[in-house]
Amino acid sequence: MFRAIPMTSAGLLLALAVAGCGEDATGPTEEGGWKQYSAGDYILEWQFEDSLSTLRIRLTAPTTGWVAVGFDPVSAMDEADLLIGYVAGGSAQLRDDYGTGQVTHASDVSLGGTDDVETISGSESAGETVVEFRVPLDSGDDYDKVYTEGTTYDVIFAYGQDGADDFTSVHSWAETASLEL
Ligand code: HEM
Repeated sequence: MFRAIPMTSAGLLLALAVAGCGEDATGPTEEGGWKQYSAGDYILEWQFEDSLSTLRIRLTAPTTGWVAVGFDPVSAMDEADLLIGYVAGGSAQLRDDYGTGQVTHASDVSLGGTDDVETISGSESAGETVVEFRVPLDSGDDYDKVYTEGTTYDVIFAYGQDGADDFTSVHSWAETASLEL
């Protein structure tokens, strides 16, 4: 079931659709080194790259706008380690963000931290966006989480409206799950 959430912010009426937790969700499953969790048409895939001390992530979502994943918020997206990406002009743009409030986020760099996401690839076709990237297991940045295989994290997922090639617009869909990475 989807909830339509009208709210007023700076004179704008935002209509959000936030899906209920766990609906149409499958996984985690494992194939070819990738673990996978899907919620509707949003797919999160990940694998620990032990030799690089990195976590490699692939996000797929039914949008031509941005797609994001976040880890361990205290509430909504507050204090989550967020990774947001979109594809424009055939190449992926990724940004390492942090939840600065329940419904706000900012780049780690703007907060005095570091951008620790390494873009691997991105594509957009038939209304679907795929971005692939890696992050350090322990970047040392206060605005990043430490990732440990076998540990359970509260994970948040969201994607933007078609054409929303930016890091700032509100999502058209969002969901949460608790996942063992
Ligand atoms: C500037 C961009 C964003 C705005 C303005 C925004 C705004 C909001 C608002 C108003 C809500 C509250 C809806 C409710 O009452 O449940 C919400 C919920 C949520 N947002 Fe965002 N959001 C943004 C970006 C993101 C991003 C990047 C993610 C991450 C992956 C995300 C994940 C979520 C999730 C998972 C919820 C639901 C929380 C829950 O049900 O507990 N949002 N957002």
